[in-house]
This record gives sequence, structure tokens and C-alpha cells, in this order.
Amino acid sequence: MTAINSVVDLSLHDGVAVLTLNSPPVNALSAALRAGLDEGLKTAYADANAKAVVIICAGRTFIAGADISEFGKPPQFPMLGDVLDTMEASQKPIIAAIHGTALGGGFEVALTAHYRVAVPSAKLGLPEIKLGLLPGAGGTQRLPRLIGVKPALDAILSGTPFSARQALDWGAIDALAEEGKLLDAALDLARSIISDGKPLRRVKDMADKIAAARSNPSLFDAARKDYARKYRGFEAWKLALQSVENAVKLPFEEGIAAERDLFMQLVSSTQSKAQRHVFFAERQVSKIPDVPDDTPVLPIEKVGVLGAGTMGGGISMNFLNAGISVTIVETRQEALDRGLSTIRRNYENTAAKGRMSMADVEKRMSLLSGTLAFEALADCDLVIEAVFENMELKKEIFKKLDATVKQGAILASNTSYLDIDEIAASTRRPDHVLGLHFFSPANVMRLLEIVRGAKTAKPVLATAMQLAKKIGKVGVLVGVCHGFVGNRMLEQRQREANKLILEGAMPWDVDRVLYDFGLPMGPFAMSDLAGLDIGWSKEKSSSSTVREILCERDRRGQKTGRGFYDYDENRKATPSAEVEAIILDFARARGIERRVISDDEILERTIYPMINEGAKILEEGKAQRSSDIDIVWINGYGWPVYRGGPMFYGETVGLDKVLARLKDFEVRFGPQLKPAALLERLASEGKGFASA
Ligand code: 3HC
Ligand code: NAI
Repeated sequence: MTAINSVVDLSLHDGVAVLTLNSPPVNALSAALRAGLDEGLKTAYADANAKAVVIICAGRTFIAGADISEFGKPPQFPMLGDVLDTMEASQKPIIAAIHGTALGGGFEVALTAHYRVAVPSAKLGLPEIKLGLLPGAGGTQRLPRLIGVKPALDAILSGTPFSARQALDWGAIDALAEEGKLLDAALDLARSIISDGKPLRRVKDMADKIAAARSNPSLFDAARKDYARKYRGFEAWKLALQSVENAVKLPFEEGIAAERDLFMQLVSSTQSKAQRHVFFAERQVSKIPDVPDDTPVLPIEKVGVLGAGTMGGGISMNFLNAGISVTIVETRQEALDRGLSTIRRNYENTAAKGRMSMADVEKRMSLLSGTLAFEALADCDLVIEAVFENMELKKEIFKKLDATVKQGAILASNTSYLDIDEIAASTRRPDHVLGLHFFSPANVMRLLEIVRGAKTAKPVLATAMQLAKKIGKVGVLVGVCHGFVGNRMLEQRQREANKLILEGAMPWDVDRVLYDFGLPMGPFAMSDLAGLDIGWSKEKSSSSTVREILCERDRRGQKTGRGFYDYDENRKATPSAEVEAIILDFARARGIERRVISDDEILERTIYPMINEGAKILEEGKAQRSSDIDIVWINGYGWPVYRGGPMFYGETVGLDKVLARLKDFEVRFGPQLKPAALLERLASEGKGFASA
């Protein structure tokens, strides 16, 4: 065995040179790996005893792609294209031996080899689109030639990896190896290629499948229509599609050159920077610096849920899906029955859509029990309280839980706003109390705010973080404060939106601007969906807000067919003349002089106060890092990934610009818009939130 460099070894196995790449954790194509691979190939070519070359990886995976952390930095040689040129120049057959995940640039290396073998558990794919990129090392030119344009287009535009078996069916690999015997299989393949005198199969020379697509140009038009819907607001897919179309229209070399240009265009785009930021943010978010990875976790085999309402039902489904048994406790039989049947109905609807079998439905339901007997919670490992949002009620319940549930079990509240420390203080185990704040619908939204109380023990936090992953959520650690991270920032947006409609905009103007920005819906459409009467009571209503007046007129949102909008039987919204009149009257009665408000101002007035609140959250240490706040907004509120989250967005606008606008707003619209001290400091130092 010869060390080519610190990450690549070369060994000779009876006439076959084996290059072993070993760059943990995922063999990303760093400069060192590229240099080692290039050098290793050239060494193997020069060795007369080597008749073929196998490229294989040590550790958990084949090359998982380009090194994303290098993007946006000055280029380091050799470039990946240079290494692939070295591969193309080979006169000896090259075999890629794949395990783990051959993704992006990693799969492109394999596509440049002459033959490919993989273990059945391997996954292959071109996920660049998820980073706002397109495959930039020949993927858009080679994959269509190898497997055909339609499957290649789908793989590239969806970015979804496919199994080794699927790859074999498509002809993307030549053979499957037995699990654990990859090197042997690759060597066998190499020797048979040598002994049979098989030609070098260069993908770039394959023409049949491209020719077939030439006679079917409508394929691209259909894909264009389809993906325009799926990727509202995204840019990269258009260029990726264009590049695959080039594979059909242009000679290989021209297609490669065009792909390179398109790739460079995307690497420097704000969208790709945002999506790369999210990639790393997602991997940071589960890390809690003072709770090391080896912190013991508590076993969670049985979960109790208090309250079978909107949240209790959704929360329970997460655990049932993960195979964990759940006991729901209610105070009223009728509420319990309704809650349990809603869960069943949700599962049956999923089954009716073909996304689950009826056996799966029954399996989940068999893990669920419901009761009015509080004592049924005694042997739970974790109890999540999801009763009405009322501090006195929650304190009373936690006291009772503390007396009933076994020692060592975790007690969690799903409260949206209340003080977890105050709730914890009503128990004798505040170290085992925390907030687990799910987002509605709780079985769908990926966000879970894990609220750390002053006394929450580290194993309890480690358990919650691990449990979040187990039930398919993104856990984000947050501190105790009103509304935690997500709702605290949302309140800022709502307040300004409510002011804007009195100052001159209409609800549909505000909603349109935020929808066009990339959010799934604006604040008024969202209120209509949730119901305008949450927290409203007819007796206490005094026409003191537009919302109260709407409720008084039985415009209580989608459920009554009327709210800020009018809804037809398909829930299609249209602006309401009645609402417009209510708003105009309301503003007039308060002496507010309406003015024309631009779309830019609507955006700045609703988004910048959120960024400002995010800065205060960071100042107060209620979030661990600014990228965690971005993750909250992406997973809890549908913030567009291509804008990277509110904090990242603030940086792309420029913190100095955000600050200047907020100062102006503070003077014109009130002290609630006063810039955070942290924002002032970072803007003056020319720094970003990451350095906060
Ligand atoms: N570049 C740099 N770092 C990477 C990386 C990459 N391509 N892929 C993973 N990492 C890092 C992660 O940031 C993480 O670092 P950390 O431990 O410091 O947090 C570590 O490797 C382990 O990653 P995961 O936690 O994600 O490990 P998993 O085992 O859960 O997943 C994986 C492994 C499926 C490979 C996943 O990491 C992944 O999907 N990686 C990205 C794959 C990708 O997008 N490749 C295409 C890159 S773009 C490209 O190749 C352009 C080309 O066309 C020119
Ligand atoms: P809900 O009103 O739909 O359900 C509450 C349920 O709790 C009712 O079925 C009620 O009968 C039951 N309940 C009341 N007292 C009880 C007791 N002592 N023991 C057992 N059950 C009892 O309320 P929802 O919307 O599910 O909210 C529950 C909690 O979740 C609240 O704290 C809320 O702030 C929070 N939350 C709500 C979200 C939402 O979008 N609805 C989102 C995130 C959190």
C-alpha cells in the first residue's frame, strides 16, 4: 500500500490498482481528495503491472459530493473537472465501487468511470438542486446518455437519490455486489473486463438514449410546466433543465462547457448561498455546546398526552408513527372520543390516498389508548401536556402529574407562550420539566421548539433532541420567553400587518407581497385559516379591533366561509368589499389618514421587525445561534428555503440597511420598532449575526 497523500492510498491487487479514498466523515471532494485522486490515477496509469483501476472509499460512504464548504471561496487546484479529464484520458478501465451515498460530484466521478458496481444498500443521486445548484461536473450531460433523458431529468430536478437496485434497472450501474464484499466484486469485474478485453465504456460516447429524446422535445415542455409549480420562486431548476436539454441538443464538449457556466452562475447566486446556509444550519441545530454527544439519554417507550384537542391528537400521531405507544388522557368522554376518531380518520385518509396500508393504520391505532383516568399516566416515560392555554390550569396539572407519574419520567408542556419555569416550579422535579412546542398541524409541521427551563437537566435535553429526530422533527433549542422564538417573532409581523391595513394597505395587498416573497400565505389568509375567533368571546367583544368587528359580524374565518376574505365552496378566497368598508370606517373613526403604501414598504414593515426581534432573541440568549432562528422559520412557518431564513435574509439585504429602515420606522410608527442594540453594533462593525 502506498500513500498518495493524507487521504488517498494506492495498492496493487494482482494486476488491478485500487485507489482507496479516506476522508471522513463523508469523503467530500476537498482539494486534498481531488489532488490525491488525480495523482493516484496518474500513478496507476504509469504502472505497467496495473491493468485496471478500482476507485473505492473507506469509512461510511463513497464520495458524497463536492465539498460544499469550499463553494464561494477562491478555487483550489486541481478542480474537479481536471480530475475528470484525467479519468477520461485513461487507457485502462476504471471501475467505481460504491457503498453508502454516491452523491453529486461523487456520483459524477462514478459516471466518468467506465464501469460501476454497488452494494444493494447504496444510494446514488444528484442532489445539487437542493443546494440551489445543478450538477457541475458532467452530471447533466452523462446521466441522460447513460439512463435516458426522462429518468435523468427527474433525478436531477427532484434531487432525490435512488437505490442501487433502481440504478441497476436503469443501467446506471453494471452490477450489484454482495453487502460487505464490494472490493472483491469490483476486483472480479475488473479482471473479467481485462480477460474479456472489454472496451472502455465512456458514457460521453453513448448516443442512443439522447437520440431517442431528440424525437420527443415535448418532454422538456412538460417538465417545465410541472416543475414551475413545484418550485415556485426557485431558480436553479430552470438552469438544470436547460443543461439537460443541452445534452440532447449540443455535442458533449459544448454541453459540458455550458454546464460549467450555468453552475458558476448558480454558485454565486443568493439563492444557492441561502440553501447552502440552510444545509449547514440543519446540521448545527441539534448541537448543544454544553450537552455533549455522550450525555446519557432516557428511554422513551411509552408517552402520555394530556388533552385530545387540535394539538394533543397531532402530537400523538408523531409517536404512533414512530412505533411508540401513546395514552391520551381527557376530562370529558366526548372530547376523548372526538380526538381518537380524528386520529383514525386522518390515518384512513392517508390510506385512501394510497400513502399507507390499512394494516399500517391498524398497527398505529393498536398502539393508542384513551382514558379519563389520570392514573393511566403513571408508568409513562414522557408526558406531554396539551390542554387549554391557561397558567393556573397548567400549574395544577403539573402538580398532579408530579404526584402521579413515576420518578425519572419527563414532564413536558406544549404551551405556546407560557413560562416553563413557573410551570416547572409547581413540581418537585423541575429538572425533568421542559417545553416541547409543536406546530400546527402537529403531525405535519417539522418544527419542534425544545424549551430549556432554568433547571432542565442535560439528559432531559439530550433525550428531547434525540426524540425529535426519531419522530421526524427538527428540534431547535430555545429559551423561556413569551412565545419562545417562532411566535415571538410572528407577533411582530402581525402587529405591523394590522397597522398597515389601517394606514393604507388592504389585507390582500399585505398577503400578496408576502406570498410573492415566497411564504405559503400572508398573515390575513393565515388568520382566516386558523379562525379569527381564537381567544375571542362574544360577551367581551367591544369592536376595538378590525378582527373583533369581523367576529361580531360572524366573519370568523374559513370555517364560516367569510373572514378577511370571502370563500367559495372550494375555499377559494376573494377580497371582500364588506371588509374593505369596515377597514376604511375603522381608520376614519380613529382619525388615521390613509396613504398609498408601496409593496417594498409592506415587505420591510413586516419582515424587518421580525429580524429585529430575532436580534433581541440572540442578545438575550434565547436561541443558541442565528441559524437556529432561520431553521425555526423554515420548518415552522414555511419561510422559503431559497431566502435562507429571516436572519440570513437580513444579512443579504445588509444589516446596515435593515437598521436604517428600522430607525426611520421607529420615528414614524412608534417605539416598538426601535432597533435592537445587537443590530446597531453588528451594523456598525460590518459583521453578520453569526459573529453575535
Ligand atoms: N461537503 C462538505 N461537508 C459535508 C458534505 C459536503 N458535500 N456532506 C456532508 N458534510 C458534512 C456535514 O456538514 C456534517 O458535518 P458536521 O459533522 O461537522 O456537522 C458531516 O459531513 C456529516 O454529515 P451528515 O450529518 O449530513 O451525515 P449523514 O450521515 O446524516 O448524511 C449525507 C450523509 C447523505 C452524505 C449527507 O451529509 C448529504 O446529503 N450531504 C450532501 C450531499 C450533497 O449535496 N452532495 C452534492 C454536493 S454539490 C456537488 O457535488 C456539486 C458538483 O456537482 C460539482
Ligand atoms: P384545544 O382546545 O383544541 O384542546 C385542548 C384539549 O384539552 C380539549 O380537548 C380539552 O377537553 C382538554 N383538556 C382541558 N383540560 C384538561 C385536563 N385537565 N386534562 C385533560 N384534558 C384537558 O387546544 P389546542 O389548540 O390543542 O391547544 C392545546 C395547547 O397547545 C395550548 O397550550 C396551546 O397554546 C398549545 N398550542 C396550540 C397550537 C395551535 O395551533 N392550536 C400550536 C402550538 C401550541
